[in-house]
Amino acid sequence: YCESGPLLRNNKGEPWVAQRNRPRRNRKSAVIRRMVQEAIVRPSNFIYPLFIHEGESDEAIASMPGCSRLSAGSVLKEVEDAMQYGVKTFILFPKIPDQLKSNYADECYNPEGLVPRTVRAIKDKFPEAMVCTDIALDPYSDQGHDGVVENGQILNDHTIAQLCKQAACQARAGSDVVAPSDMMDGRVGAIRDALDSEGHITTSIMAYTAKYASAFYGPFRDALDSHPGFGDKKTYQQDPANGREALIETALDVSEGADILMVKPGMPYLDVVLRLRAATDLPVAVYHVSGEYAMLRAASERGWLDEKKSVMEAMTCFKRAGADIILTYFAKNCAKWIAQDGEPCY
Ligand code: PBG
Repeated sequence: YCESGPLLRNNKGEPWVAQRNRPRRNRKSAVIRRMVQEAIVRPSNFIYPLFIHEGESDEAIASMPGCSRLSAGSVLKEVEDAMQYGVKTFILFPKIPDQLKSNYADECYNPEGLVPRTVRAIKDKFPEAMVCTDIALDPYSDQGHDGVVENGQILNDHTIAQLCKQAACQARAGSDVVAPSDMMDGRVGAIRDALDSEGHITTSIMAYTAKYASAFYGPFRDALDSHPGFGDKKTYQQDPANGREALIETALDVSEGADILMVKPGMPYLDVVLRLRAATDLPVAVYHVSGEYAMLRAASERGWLDEKKSVMEAMTCFKRAGADIILTYFAKNCAKWIAQDGEPCY
């Protein structure tokens, strides 16, 4: 034993813990750490959400510094820029002028509306870009809800009738992936049938499968001016307290023909990502939502967090938890950091 404590000494007389398994050996250099890395974030894993509006110039979003509502020209520039770094998939969110909003949200299937026009413009200019479109009524609803409202209730099946028209309209415009974010019961199957009946058999459905009634969507609702006009979204979005319920939604979305399943929000819901990963062999996506973006941006701006390191750590943790696909407002920045530093860059 050595004088300093109950440690053995090796043949050279040095302190020695009789420990054969030393996990630190696999951490001893950057080379070996990289060699044994389990979860790797690549630019191709990202879906980059873009806010669009009718304006001629971009409008900064106060609660999401670094994000703007983009003009038609700026969207194309942003797509081109992101594609250079290997981010090739985008999802569009429109800010719709008040005068086009209504309870039935009929603007959502106007073939000359903001979303179909933007989809066509992106696909025309960048045929290899993949464009996803959100399916839900809220940007078009004068009630700020994801469905048709009657007597303070959100009508499930009336809403689905509108969502089917919205999905078909987006598919006709060339959307590669439609993403129902509304949480109505049965919408995935109904949308699949609506698409198929028009021959859109290759249009994918990325279902917001486990979408929670979350306070972390606040900045997004600022961006779209889509805060609920009354009440909250708890009669359709899931209670943050519930994990098993996500598996009920998973079984339904799988049986209704979803191609990709999504969990939303991201960082506080990694256990749900893990549960979906175990419950399905479909690709799993996670949405790092506006409030999560705002938190990381705000802390980084104050110098309280290292932005690159904390954001890339969060992205890596999504992949570790089982996500294949990450929707994040940081997508372009992450791809730039990966291009500069290689993987990992935290
Ligand atoms: C609307 C929708 C929301 C988000 C994506 N689609 C907001 C909501 O459900 O109120 C939130 C995204 C984010 O916060 O980044 N159906």
